Amino acid sequence: MTTKIQVAIDGPASAGKSTIAKIIATQLGYIYVDTGAMYRTITLAAIRANKITVGQTSADEQVISELLTNVEIGFAPSENGQLVFLNDTDVTEDIRQADVNSLVSLVAAIPAVRTDLVERQRQLAATSSVVMDGRDIGTMVLPNAQVKIFLVASVAERAQRRFAENQAKGLDTELTLEEIEASIARRDYLDSHREVSPLKQADDAVLVDTTGLSIEQVVTEITNLISKKIG
Ligand code: DC
Repeated sequence: MTTKIQVAIDGPASAGKSTIAKIIATQLGYIYVDTGAMYRTITLAAIRANKITVGQTSADEQVISELLTNVEIGFAPSENGQLVFLNDTDVTEDIRQADVNSLVSLVAAIPAVRTDLVERQRQLAATSSVVMDGRDIGTMVLPNAQVKIFLVASVAERAQRRFAENQAKGLDTELTLEEIEASIARRDYLDSHREVSPLKQADDAVLVDTTGLSIEQVVTEITNLISKKIG
């Protein structure tokens, strides 16, 4: 049996993890697993089932966890990137909307949700070599990953990137740069202060600060790190 390679990329919201992880996965011929999309899909399912609404400041663990057995999360490649499915419905765009953005950290803090999704993520890594991005991949999901990267950038730069991306894609175009910066800072706080698997650099992860770097520069730096680790 050939060894399956695991590349774990963690870091705060909008640090560029998914952009970088997708490119690296394509280069290496590994599957790309966007674990943030999985937390987003559960959140969307909860919103659609009226189990949580925008403005709530806490989520009911019991109510949300009842949903888990009925939610299949699927990924499929497409010309425009990876598609995400909630059962059989394409939710690729819906999971990036403001309602999901504002509630996903609450849902991701629920222990039953994390246990369920971590198990699904490990199953995906058991089938193929993977590049997996998230918040707890190196610390919790794949603690034995051969390569662990902790990708960061300043809050100001992450807000700038998200703002430019929104304008280019026509998503949430009414949001100002200041609002986006506040929302990123809030998610950073919630993600790094929750009790279960908070966002934290693994002891054996390599810190890569992408502030001021282009996508190509970051890809080159990470590709070099991977070559050093796995040859
Ligand atoms: O990477 P993202 O912005 O799509 O992630 C959405 C949310 O999901 C984020 O606020 C934190 C949470 N998340 C998590 O708790 N653990 C992961 N492995 C991935 C994402």
